[in-house]
Amino acid sequence: MQHLIDIMDMTVEEVDQLILKAEDIIANPAAYAEKCRGKKLATLFFEPSTRTRLSFEAAMYELGGHVLGFADANSSSATKGETVADTIRVVGCYADIIAMRHPKEGAPLVATQVANVPIINAGDGGHNHPTQTLTDLLTIHREKGTYEGLTIGFCGDLKFGRTVHSLLQAMCRYPNTKFVLIAPDELKIPGYLRDKLDKLNIPYTETPDLESAMPELDVLYMTRVQQERFFNEADYVRLKDTYILTPEKLSKAKSDMIILHPLPRVNEIPRAIDDDPRACYFKQVLNGKYARMALIMKLLGIS
Ligand code: CP
Repeated sequence: MQHLIDIMDMTVEEVDQLILKAEDIIANPAAYAEKCRGKKLATLFFEPSTRTRLSFEAAMYELGGHVLGFADANSSSATKGETVADTIRVVGCYADIIAMRHPKEGAPLVATQVANVPIINAGDGGHNHPTQTLTDLLTIHREKGTYEGLTIGFCGDLKFGRTVHSLLQAMCRYPNTKFVLIAPDELKIPGYLRDKLDKLNIPYTETPDLESAMPELDVLYMTRVQQERFFNEADYVRLKDTYILTPEKLSKAKSDMIILHPLPRVNEIPRAIDDDPRACYFKQVLNGKYARMALIMKLLGIS
Protein backbone atom coordinates (compact mmCIF):
# COMPACT_ATOMS: atom_id res chain seq x y z
CA MET A 1 0.00 0.00 0.00
CA GLN A 2 1.40 3.40 -1.00
CA HIS A 3 0.86 6.63 0.95
CA LEU A 4 1.90 10.19 0.05
CA ILE A 5 3.31 11.97 3.08
CA ASP A 6 6.31 13.72 1.53
CA ILE A 7 6.81 14.45 -2.17
CA MET A 8 10.12 12.58 -1.87
CA ASP A 9 8.10 9.38 -1.16
CA MET A 10 7.61 9.27 -4.93
CA THR A 11 10.43 8.75 -7.39
CA VAL A 12 10.94 11.40 -10.02
CA GLU A 13 9.67 8.88 -12.60
CA GLU A 14 6.47 8.37 -10.57
CA VAL A 15 5.96 12.12 -10.32
CA ASP A 16 6.54 12.58 -14.05
CA GLN A 17 4.07 9.77 -14.87
CA LEU A 18 1.49 11.27 -12.55
CA ILE A 19 1.83 14.66 -14.23
CA LEU A 20 1.37 13.01 -17.64
CA LYS A 21 -1.72 11.24 -16.29
CA ALA A 22 -3.10 14.59 -15.12
CA GLU A 23 -2.45 16.02 -18.59
CA ASP A 24 -4.38 13.10 -20.08
CA ILE A 25 -7.28 13.67 -17.69
CA ILE A 26 -7.40 17.33 -18.79
CA ALA A 27 -7.43 16.25 -22.45
CA ASN A 28 -9.94 13.37 -22.03
CA PRO A 29 -12.07 13.95 -18.91
CA ALA A 30 -14.90 11.64 -20.04
CA ALA A 31 -12.52 8.67 -20.08
CA TYR A 32 -12.05 9.05 -16.31
CA ALA A 33 -15.65 9.67 -15.25
CA GLU A 34 -16.20 6.12 -13.91
CA LYS A 35 -12.67 5.23 -12.75
CA CYS A 36 -13.51 5.39 -9.03
CA ARG A 37 -17.09 4.16 -9.20
CA GLY A 38 -17.92 2.61 -5.79
CA LYS A 39 -14.84 4.05 -4.05
CA LYS A 40 -14.95 6.48 -1.13
CA LEU A 41 -12.50 9.27 -0.24
CA ALA A 42 -12.46 10.63 3.32
CA THR A 43 -11.25 14.21 3.77
CA LEU A 44 -10.20 14.79 7.39
CA PHE A 45 -9.32 18.44 7.83
CA PHE A 46 -8.15 19.32 11.34
CA GLU A 47 -7.04 22.73 9.98
CA PRO A 48 -8.90 25.16 7.65
CA SER A 49 -8.76 24.79 3.88
CA THR A 50 -10.60 25.92 0.79
CA ARG A 51 -8.62 24.68 -2.22
CA THR A 52 -7.10 21.45 -0.98
CA ARG A 53 -10.22 19.97 0.55
CA LEU A 54 -12.61 21.08 -2.17
CA SER A 55 -10.26 20.07 -4.99
CA PHE A 56 -9.88 16.61 -3.44
CA GLU A 57 -13.65 16.32 -3.19
CA ALA A 58 -14.22 17.62 -6.74
CA ALA A 59 -11.52 15.24 -7.97
CA MET A 60 -13.24 12.21 -6.41
CA TYR A 61 -16.67 13.25 -7.75
CA GLU A 62 -15.20 13.69 -11.25
CA LEU A 63 -13.80 10.15 -11.01
CA GLY A 64 -17.28 8.84 -10.20
CA GLY A 65 -16.54 8.17 -6.52
CA HIS A 66 -18.00 9.38 -3.23
CA VAL A 67 -16.73 11.65 -0.47
CA LEU A 68 -17.17 11.77 3.31
CA GLY A 69 -15.34 13.57 6.08
CA PHE A 70 -15.12 16.74 8.13
CA ALA A 71 -13.89 20.25 7.40
CA ASP A 72 -13.46 21.28 11.02
CA ALA A 73 -11.87 19.30 13.83
CA ASN A 74 -14.42 20.85 16.21
CA SER A 75 -17.13 18.79 14.57
CA SER A 76 -15.17 15.57 15.08
CA SER A 77 -14.47 13.43 18.15
CA ALA A 78 -10.99 14.98 18.34
CA THR A 79 -12.74 17.50 20.63
CA LYS A 80 -13.51 14.58 23.00
CA GLY A 81 -9.86 13.54 23.09
CA GLU A 82 -9.78 10.95 20.31
CA THR A 83 -6.25 10.48 18.97
CA VAL A 84 -5.26 10.80 15.31
CA ALA A 85 -4.39 7.09 15.34
CA ASP A 86 -7.85 6.07 16.54
CA THR A 87 -9.56 8.45 14.10
CA ILE A 88 -7.63 6.88 11.23
CA ARG A 89 -8.50 3.32 12.34
CA VAL A 90 -12.16 4.30 12.49
CA VAL A 91 -12.29 6.14 9.16
CA GLY A 92 -10.45 3.25 7.52
CA CYS A 93 -13.61 1.21 8.22
CA TYR A 94 -15.63 3.59 6.05
CA ALA A 95 -13.35 4.89 3.29
CA ASP A 96 -10.94 3.49 0.68
CA ILE A 97 -8.49 6.40 0.87
CA ILE A 98 -7.93 9.29 3.29
CA ALA A 99 -6.67 12.83 2.67
CA MET A 100 -5.83 14.55 5.96
CA ARG A 101 -4.62 18.00 6.98
CA HIS A 102 -3.34 18.58 10.48
CA PRO A 103 -1.68 21.52 12.27
CA LYS A 104 0.94 19.22 13.81
CA GLU A 105 3.98 18.30 11.71
CA GLY A 106 4.19 14.53 11.36
CA ALA A 107 0.53 13.76 12.12
CA PRO A 108 -0.09 12.18 8.65
CA LEU A 109 3.03 10.06 9.11
CA VAL A 110 1.63 8.81 12.42
CA ALA A 111 -1.58 8.00 10.56
CA THR A 112 0.29 5.70 8.15
CA GLN A 113 1.43 3.56 11.08
CA VAL A 114 -2.12 2.38 11.81
CA ALA A 115 -3.85 2.89 8.46
CA ASN A 116 -5.37 0.08 6.41
CA VAL A 117 -6.00 2.46 3.47
CA PRO A 118 -3.72 4.95 1.66
CA ILE A 119 -3.08 8.21 3.52
CA ILE A 120 -2.44 11.49 1.71
CA ASN A 121 -0.82 14.38 3.55
CA ALA A 122 -2.94 17.42 2.64
CA GLY A 123 -0.61 19.70 4.64
CA ASP A 124 1.00 19.16 8.05
CA GLY A 125 1.76 22.33 10.00
CA GLY A 126 4.75 24.22 8.62
CA HIS A 127 6.31 21.04 7.25
CA ASN A 128 5.12 19.62 3.91
CA HIS A 129 2.30 19.89 1.38
CA PRO A 130 3.04 17.29 -1.32
CA THR A 131 -0.25 17.56 -3.22
CA GLN A 132 0.28 21.32 -3.62
CA THR A 133 3.63 20.37 -5.14
CA LEU A 134 1.94 18.08 -7.68
CA THR A 135 -0.33 21.03 -8.48
CA ASP A 136 2.67 23.34 -8.86
CA LEU A 137 4.58 20.85 -11.02
CA LEU A 138 1.59 20.36 -13.32
CA THR A 139 1.30 24.14 -13.67
CA ILE A 140 5.02 24.54 -14.44
CA HIS A 141 4.76 21.69 -16.97
CA ARG A 142 1.81 23.28 -18.71
CA GLU A 143 3.15 26.83 -18.68
CA LYS A 144 6.88 26.32 -19.23
CA GLY A 145 6.90 22.94 -21.02
CA THR A 146 9.91 21.72 -19.01
CA TYR A 147 11.31 21.38 -15.52
CA GLU A 148 14.90 21.74 -16.71
CA GLY A 149 17.09 24.82 -16.40
CA LEU A 150 14.59 26.92 -14.46
CA THR A 151 15.50 29.68 -12.03
CA ILE A 152 12.83 29.65 -9.35
CA GLY A 153 12.34 32.50 -6.90
CA PHE A 154 10.56 31.64 -3.66
CA CYS A 155 9.38 34.82 -1.96
CA GLY A 156 7.87 35.51 1.45
CA ASP A 157 7.50 33.05 4.31
CA LEU A 158 10.09 30.41 3.48
CA LYS A 159 10.39 29.35 7.12
CA PHE A 160 6.86 28.12 7.74
CA GLY A 161 5.78 27.77 4.09
CA ARG A 162 5.11 24.06 3.69
CA THR A 163 4.38 24.47 -0.03
CA VAL A 164 7.85 25.98 -0.47
CA HIS A 165 9.53 23.16 1.45
CA SER A 166 7.89 20.50 -0.72
CA LEU A 167 8.35 22.19 -4.11
CA LEU A 168 11.95 23.13 -3.42
CA GLN A 169 12.81 19.48 -2.71
CA ALA A 170 10.91 18.28 -5.78
CA MET A 171 12.68 20.74 -8.08
CA CYS A 172 16.12 19.73 -6.75
CA ARG A 173 15.69 16.50 -8.75
CA TYR A 174 15.55 18.21 -12.16
CA PRO A 175 18.69 19.27 -14.07
CA ASN A 176 20.10 22.78 -13.84
CA THR A 177 17.58 24.15 -11.37
CA LYS A 178 18.62 27.35 -9.57
CA PHE A 179 16.87 28.93 -6.61
CA VAL A 180 16.63 32.52 -5.45
CA LEU A 181 15.35 32.54 -1.87
CA ILE A 182 13.76 35.91 -1.15
CA ALA A 183 12.87 36.40 2.52
CA PRO A 184 13.61 38.60 5.52
CA ASP A 185 16.05 37.12 8.06
CA GLU A 186 13.21 35.94 10.29
CA LEU A 187 11.53 33.91 7.51
CA LYS A 188 14.48 32.24 5.75
CA ILE A 189 14.26 28.55 4.81
CA PRO A 190 14.87 26.03 7.61
CA GLY A 191 18.45 24.82 8.10
CA TYR A 192 17.66 21.26 7.01
CA LEU A 193 16.71 22.51 3.54
CA ARG A 194 19.79 24.73 3.25
CA ASP A 195 21.90 21.69 4.22
CA LYS A 196 20.18 19.68 1.52
CA LEU A 197 20.87 22.30 -1.16
CA ASP A 198 24.52 22.44 -0.08
CA LYS A 199 24.87 18.66 -0.06
CA LEU A 200 23.38 18.35 -3.55
CA ASN A 201 25.41 21.32 -4.87
CA ILE A 202 22.24 23.06 -6.05
CA PRO A 203 22.99 26.71 -6.87
CA TYR A 204 21.02 29.18 -4.76
CA THR A 205 21.21 32.72 -3.47
CA GLU A 206 19.46 34.24 -0.48
CA THR A 207 18.34 37.87 -0.57
CA PRO A 208 15.76 40.08 1.13
CA ASP A 209 15.27 42.08 -2.12
CA LEU A 210 12.50 40.94 -4.48
CA GLU A 211 13.04 43.74 -7.02
CA SER A 212 16.70 43.02 -7.68
CA ALA A 213 16.00 39.27 -7.98
CA MET A 214 13.17 39.70 -10.47
CA PRO A 215 15.02 39.91 -13.83
CA GLU A 216 16.61 36.44 -13.59
CA LEU A 217 13.50 34.47 -12.59
CA ASP A 218 11.61 31.97 -14.76
CA VAL A 219 9.15 31.19 -11.97
CA LEU A 220 8.20 33.51 -9.09
CA TYR A 221 6.55 31.58 -6.27
CA MET A 222 4.90 34.11 -3.95
CA THR A 223 3.70 33.07 -0.50
CA ARG A 224 1.60 34.52 2.28
CA VAL A 225 3.14 35.37 5.64
CA GLN A 226 1.11 32.93 7.75
CA GLN A 227 -0.40 34.54 10.81
CA GLU A 228 -1.37 31.14 12.23
CA ARG A 229 2.28 30.00 12.50
CA PHE A 230 3.49 32.98 14.57
CA PHE A 231 3.80 32.81 18.34
CA ASN A 232 4.01 36.59 18.60
CA GLU A 233 1.38 38.84 16.97
CA ALA A 234 3.79 41.81 16.89
CA ASP A 235 6.25 39.83 14.73
CA TYR A 236 3.47 38.95 12.30
CA VAL A 237 2.32 42.56 12.02
CA ARG A 238 5.90 43.72 11.39
CA LEU A 239 6.56 41.13 8.66
CA LYS A 240 3.20 40.60 6.97
CA ASP A 241 3.59 43.20 4.21
CA THR A 242 7.31 42.73 3.58
CA TYR A 243 6.65 41.78 -0.06
CA ILE A 244 3.98 43.25 -2.29
CA LEU A 245 4.25 42.40 -5.97
CA THR A 246 3.42 45.78 -7.53
CA PRO A 247 3.11 46.30 -11.31
CA GLU A 248 6.30 48.37 -11.07
CA LYS A 249 8.26 45.45 -9.60
CA LEU A 250 6.74 43.08 -12.14
CA SER A 251 7.92 45.36 -14.97
CA LYS A 252 11.48 44.15 -14.18
CA ALA A 253 10.54 40.50 -14.85
CA LYS A 254 11.01 38.42 -18.00
CA SER A 255 8.03 38.51 -20.34
CA ASP A 256 7.62 34.72 -19.99
CA MET A 257 8.13 34.47 -16.24
CA ILE A 258 5.22 32.79 -14.48
CA ILE A 259 3.80 33.88 -11.13
CA LEU A 260 2.62 31.07 -8.87
CA HIS A 261 1.04 31.30 -5.43
CA PRO A 262 -0.51 28.38 -3.50
CA LEU A 263 -3.20 30.80 -2.22
CA PRO A 264 -4.88 32.08 -0.14
CA ARG A 265 -3.25 35.46 -0.72
CA VAL A 266 -3.55 38.46 1.57
CA ASN A 267 -1.72 41.61 0.38
CA GLU A 268 1.30 40.12 -1.40
CA ILE A 269 -0.30 40.04 -4.87
CA PRO A 270 -2.58 43.03 -5.56
CA ARG A 271 -5.64 42.43 -7.75
CA ALA A 272 -4.01 44.67 -10.39
CA ILE A 273 -1.65 41.78 -11.20
CA ASP A 274 -4.43 39.26 -11.88
CA ASP A 275 -4.90 40.25 -15.54
CA ASP A 276 -1.19 40.05 -16.34
CA PRO A 277 -0.62 37.01 -18.62
CA ARG A 278 2.17 35.90 -16.28
CA ALA A 279 -0.26 35.46 -13.37
CA CYS A 280 -0.92 31.70 -13.21
CA TYR A 281 -2.27 31.25 -9.68
CA PHE A 282 -5.88 30.69 -10.67
CA LYS A 283 -4.83 28.23 -13.39
CA GLN A 284 -2.85 26.55 -10.60
CA VAL A 285 -6.06 26.16 -8.57
CA LEU A 286 -7.76 24.29 -11.42
CA ASN A 287 -4.68 22.17 -12.07
CA GLY A 288 -4.87 21.06 -8.43
CA LYS A 289 -8.06 19.14 -9.13
CA TYR A 290 -6.50 17.23 -12.04
CA ALA A 291 -3.29 16.48 -10.15
CA ARG A 292 -5.37 15.09 -7.26
CA MET A 293 -7.48 12.99 -9.64
CA ALA A 294 -4.29 11.40 -10.94
CA LEU A 295 -3.02 10.87 -7.40
CA ILE A 296 -6.21 9.25 -6.10
CA MET A 297 -6.14 6.81 -9.03
CA LYS A 298 -2.48 6.00 -8.48
CA LEU A 299 -2.85 5.30 -4.76
CA LEU A 300 -5.96 3.18 -5.36
CA GLY A 301 -4.09 1.19 -8.03
CA ILE A 302 -6.43 2.28 -10.82
CA SER A 303 -4.86 2.86 -14.26
N1 CP B 1 -3.05 25.99 -1.22
C1 CP B 1 -3.74 25.54 -0.14
O1 CP B 1 -3.31 24.63 0.57
O2 CP B 1 -4.92 26.20 0.06
P1 CP B 1 -5.99 25.83 1.19
O3 CP B 1 -5.32 26.12 2.52
O4 CP B 1 -7.17 26.68 0.93
O5 CP B 1 -6.28 24.35 1.08
